[in-house]
Amino acid sequence: MSRRPLIAANWKMHGTVASVQAYLEALVDRVGAAGPEVVVCPPFTLLPAAVLIATGSEVAIGAQNCHWEDSGAFTGEVAPAMLAAFTGEVAPAMLAELGVRWVIAGHSERRQYFGESDASAGARAKAAQRAGLDVIFCVGETLEQREAGATLAVLERQSTAIEGLDPAHLALAYEPIWAIGTGKTATATQAQEAHAALRRRAGELLGEPAAAGLRILYGGSVKPDNAAVLLAEKDVDGALVGGASLDVEGFWAIIHAAPGEHRGAEE
Ligand code: 13P
Repeated sequence: MSRRPLIAANWKMHGTVASVQAYLEALVDRVGAAGPEVVVCPPFTLLPAAVLIATGSEVAIGAQNCHWEDSGAFTGEVAPAMLAAFTGEVAPAMLAELGVRWVIAGHSERRQYFGESDASAGARAKAAQRAGLDVIFCVGETLEQREAGATLAVLERQSTAIEGLDPAHLALAYEPIWAIGTGKTATATQAQEAHAALRRRAGELLGEPAAAGLRILYGGSVKPDNAAVLLAEKDVDGALVGGASLDVEGFWAIIHAAPGEHRGAEE
């Protein structure tokens, strides 16, 4: 199974209807079927506008979170099926093809500010897959954990939550917390070491063939000028981009930095 590079924009709590429209109008015509897979994850409120513009293009839209139940009394939460259901609103004839395709689960900002645990992140990911969504599942260590030499142990623990997920609808994202929004990027060597460990771990949890086909993205201060070096590493199959993804030209430059060829399991 070959690994097509995946470049995802995580807008976090930024953007307006007007900005997502302008951004996607500038992006959709440039992204083709042959290059990296491209996903844009704006805040919930911008998803309908984003889906409307991305429909029929090669740009997929993702959400940044979803609840772990299919419905219920959870004030302020959004169920995964509701995200997929935007499809029905926007393009009924293209139900299977379009709509919100992806959801991020377990982002470190959710873990840090909103009490996300390994278990709740895993439950969200499972619910998302039940609703037909693909999942970007995030893991990553703090600076204290890295300095204590605990990075690989932390990644092993956090990634246990992917057990039972469908690997065909999953990507992992390694996002060292000390590199997020700080301008400090992991070196290519640090990223490769973590990604290789995550692929080994995925082999234990999902089976070797699935792990060989699993895309593992790097996130943490990815910019147009450091993307190519990170993406050249053997086990770095894409990027999850925060700040630098808000500018469409910057995001396009990062998409452009991804290797043209797909990586094969046979490597
Ligand atoms: P930055 O690219 O702003 O460091 O954010 C990374 C991130 O958290 C993506 O999910």
